[in-house]
Amino acid sequence: MTESSLDSLEPLVSLCKRRGYIFQSSEIYGGLNGFWDYGPLGVELRRRIFDSWWSMMVERREDVVGMDASIINHPRVWEASGHVASFYDMMVDCRGCNRRFRLDHMIQDALDNDTLDAIFPDRDNSVPPAEGEVPTKCPACGGELTEPRQFGLMFETHVGAATDSKSIAYLRPETAQAIFVNFKNVQMSSRLKVPFGIAQVGKAFRNEVTPRNFTFRSREFEQMEMEFFVHPDEERKWFDYWVDARHEWYEHLGVNPDRLRRRDHGGDELAHYASYTTDVEYQFPFGWAELEGIANRGNFDLTQHGEHSGKDQAYFDPTRNEKYVPSVIETSAGLDRTLLTVLADAFAIDRVGEEERTVLRLAPHIAPRQVAVFPLSKKLAEPARKLTDDLQRRFHAIYDDSGSIGKRYRREDEVGTPYCVTFDFDSLEDGAATVRDRDTTDQERVALDSLPAYLDERIRK
Ligand code: GAP
Repeated sequence: MTESSLDSLEPLVSLCKRRGYIFQSSEIYGGLNGFWDYGPLGVELRRRIFDSWWSMMVERREDVVGMDASIINHPRVWEASGHVASFYDMMVDCRGCNRRFRLDHMIQDALDNDTLDAIFPDRDNSVPPAEGEVPTKCPACGGELTEPRQFGLMFETHVGAATDSKSIAYLRPETAQAIFVNFKNVQMSSRLKVPFGIAQVGKAFRNEVTPRNFTFRSREFEQMEMEFFVHPDEERKWFDYWVDARHEWYEHLGVNPDRLRRRDHGGDELAHYASYTTDVEYQFPFGWAELEGIANRGNFDLTQHGEHSGKDQAYFDPTRNEKYVPSVIETSAGLDRTLLTVLADAFAIDRVGEEERTVLRLAPHIAPRQVAVFPLSKKLAEPARKLTDDLQRRFHAIYDDSGSIGKRYRREDEVGTPYCVTFDFDSLEDGAATVRDRDTTDQERVALDSLPAYLDERIRK
């Protein structure tokens, strides 16, 4: 089997629309840049990624608990966290073609593509630009660029009837802050002792200057975050532990390990709260890019909220007989980005015999549809439907009797269904059906009464 994978996101974007994974938001009105809707298969894949994360981070651990906070918090949360003062990007506009660019991305793209001369025509580009150096020319049309301006990333709204400065609130740009402001509530109500973590999955909103690369950078997205509270002497130990654990999770999702790497942040890219950060990155068709950040946030957030709220956030450690403000190791992943990663990684075009097929080689435990049951003839509808009903108790299984068996296989390959079960006339006699493996296309006769266990062994993880 010769096989090719993605060299641009275009074929994946088109498959996602065609087969009901992801649609452009408000498409019939021309779409809304940076917003996406998940269709029937997309929503199933999201749930499975969510479940896998929750199982690893919460259910299988005794030292992490979950929570689910409101999306809109008291606006002072975002003053204390530093977001009101410093959560913005620098942008420039082109006076010629009116394109808008994020300054750091424009410079990075020019560095990556060796095109600094196009945006910095008047400097010696044999050395990379220093921080603060501003390009003068548009990379798209060569036109003059405006001075850089700040672009606030938080979406503002108003709470209550009045719409004045006192009623301003923000859609949360990260889920983490609601965990910090609930540190005492959770610790005391759950009687947890440091070290312990609080996990949360939920929507976050950022008015990104340039949403791009399909869902990779959106304006509304979902984060899966966990804040792990530790004694300050144990920051490094827990940081290393979580970097390893989080990296392994992407491999557990079936992502090709050769396309995963870790990258430590340089001093100039660290967020205002972090003393060190390591990203887990994936090699997308558009280059290496961040999937998740693991950061040592020290005691920045708890100290800030203690000072701004007047409520002491220090913790008394009964084991050490010591009072301190815990340090925090954060693991911050994007659900939408993970979903895009598993789809991009699974996408392949190969040949089966004379025919080319598109196949999503999703790990069976996260595939949105796990089994498809095909009656060879419509005359076999009744027993094949009964088999589907039985399988639906354990798996996401569908029944399909339209088109040739070959066409049905192709449809399921394209959405990533790992197993197809064909119920034929012999099945009535021998009590067995043919199971076909998506990846190898091998077929095997399996007794109907052992079919659930056969599939279970291959699908569950
Ligand atoms: N609490 C820390 C934090 O929010 P971040 O690096 O800004 O850190 C963490 O975001 C993760 O959230 C990213 O690694 C990414 O997976 C996801 N994410 C951030 N911005 C995103 C966007 N505009 N669209 C999709 N996912 C995003």
